[in-house]
Amino acid sequence: MAEMLNVALPKGRLGDKVYKMFALAGFECPEMLEDSRKLVFENPEKQVRFFSVKPSDVAVYVERGAADIGVCGKDILLEYEPDVYELLDLKTGKCRMAVATRALFRDDPASTLVVATKFSHIAARYYASLGRDIDIVHLNGSIELAPILGLSDVIVDIVETGTTLRENDLHEIETIAPISARLIANKASYAFKKDLILRVQEAFREQVAEK
Ligand code: PRP
Repeated sequence: MAEMLNVALPKGRLGDKVYKMFALAGFECPEMLEDSRKLVFENPEKQVRFFSVKPSDVAVYVERGAADIGVCGKDILLEYEPDVYELLDLKTGKCRMAVATRALFRDDPASTLVVATKFSHIAARYYASLGRDIDIVHLNGSIELAPILGLSDVIVDIVETGTTLRENDLHEIETIAPISARLIANKASYAFKKDLILRVQEAFREQVAEK
């Protein structure tokens, strides 16, 4: 049986976009386009199998070799530092990791800053680089609520259009890092399935360059 390339695709809008890139690269899988609750889709003829996974889990599948390659946000790579190869910036899914707070907040550098975030590791590293003591309140979503309710002084979160901040009377005070989608590969797979992976990498490189 021909070797299969196992791909972890993030569920949702980014995954739909990335699937189209795979199809253009010659790895089409028609059953992906059907509306279903299936999580595994394959096309043995094209040597490809897609897994539909939660975006924040893509790197786990790839790091552990359950998938050979995948696409995930740079935010996930910065937060979890998975032991994978980052092959390409897909220049899509662009946003930024930023610090935001209420208009009335005045920072006192002498006091511990309370930071609410889903990205505890990124926040800890960022403030350590500034030599600032912080207290992290780890939340799993709706981070913007924290400063409104007095749960934190600031938030470290993803800002895309800025709408969520605006609608909650918060504003961005620092940018930590630009974020976009990345093609990643399992290290062993990159050695053993090099031909298939290079085909994807090269095709994606061309598609990104044409944009
Ligand atoms: C993300 C992020 C912000 C929002 C930013 O949340 O955490 O809340 O998107 O986008 P904007 O600048 O375009 O408004 P997500 O929708 O992933 O939900 P979450 O609250 O579960 O984090």
